[in-house]
Amino acid sequence: MSLQDFPSQLDELTAAAQQAFSSAADADAVEAARVEFLGAKSGRLKAVQKGLGAIPPADKPAAGQRFNAVKQQVEAALAAAQERLAAATTATALVGYDTTTPGTPLTLGHLHPITQTIEELKDIMGRLGFSVAEGPEVEDEWHNFEALNIPAAHPARDPLENFYLATLEASGGRKLPVVPGVEETGGLRPPLAMAERGTAPTMLLRSQTSTVQIRVMEHTPPPVRIISLGRVYRPDTADATHYPMFHQIEGLLIDRQVRMADLKSVLRLFAASYLGHDVHIRFRPSFFPFTEPSVEVDMQWGQGWMEFGGAGMVDPHVLRSVGYDPDEVSGFAFGLGVERLCARRHHVTDIREFYKNDVRFLHQF
Ligand code: DAH
Repeated sequence: MSLQDFPSQLDELTAAAQQAFSSAADADAVEAARVEFLGAKSGRLKAVQKGLGAIPPADKPAAGQRFNAVKQQVEAALAAAQERLAAATTATALVGYDTTTPGTPLTLGHLHPITQTIEELKDIMGRLGFSVAEGPEVEDEWHNFEALNIPAAHPARDPLENFYLATLEASGGRKLPVVPGVEETGGLRPPLAMAERGTAPTMLLRSQTSTVQIRVMEHTPPPVRIISLGRVYRPDTADATHYPMFHQIEGLLIDRQVRMADLKSVLRLFAASYLGHDVHIRFRPSFFPFTEPSVEVDMQWGQGWMEFGGAGMVDPHVLRSVGYDPDEVSGFAFGLGVERLCARRHHVTDIREFYKNDVRFLHQF
């Protein structure tokens, strides 16, 4: 082939390819045209490319350039045809589709009512200047009892009143049956009999959030103004106002010259903020080992009253156990039941409802 023949041959080929691709009505026709012109073995461009070998060396660069330009044009025609077909397919799919049809409604979940309550209580106490502290749910006897002025012989420490845990150390390395799902979270084992525990530290699921008072004071010099919210555990029989696991909000304020009047003001403000200004609360004299004097706090419920927590002035023994000087500082503390507060607010008459996981109940909050 001479260079003179080369351009006309290529013009013809380009025109034929463009015609084939632009008239291809479906994917099969596009594919047939692709094989005819761009096929790797016997496509027409391939044939031309082979013919390049016969061109005199001096003309080869020009011929090569020309060939490449043509190849690009043919490839562009193929791409255009593919695009045209794809657009047509989408358009066909949209015919008969009513874009005004309402979609399938999505059901969004929301926070559990107890979690919502916890968030709101944090908010209220935050406005009164209390910050949030946390403590572990698996506790030692020092924080759950001893430092809170609850001595070894106290009935509150009875194994029947608490969920004691057997730990690896307490078992003296003896292999114990594993509770499925619990081991990964810290090597907890089923309870051991008292005698088997020996002298190793005894752990339990905390029975009160007052533990966090101790943990905070151990690490913070006064003044202190904290709340702590979380789960506590007691082997109580579940009924309308009890559950073996429930939540408490603990409060602690330590400063110079804190008085009982401060405690009452804070609790009244707290109750008014959460339950409404028309809800009455009352204080009854009571006893807790870690407060002196102590009160129980009731809220109005129907015709009567419902206890929602305990409170008092922090006992000097407790202040001393964390290294505070009771002659320098004083303070108040309180511990309230979150489930009961939430139930009162929403007129729920049985706190077991919170833990049945019945969405018909839960979606109302
Ligand atoms: N820890 C007590 C309980 O669970 C409640 C309580 C009473 C907490 C008096 C306090 C307090 O901080 O001062 O029954």
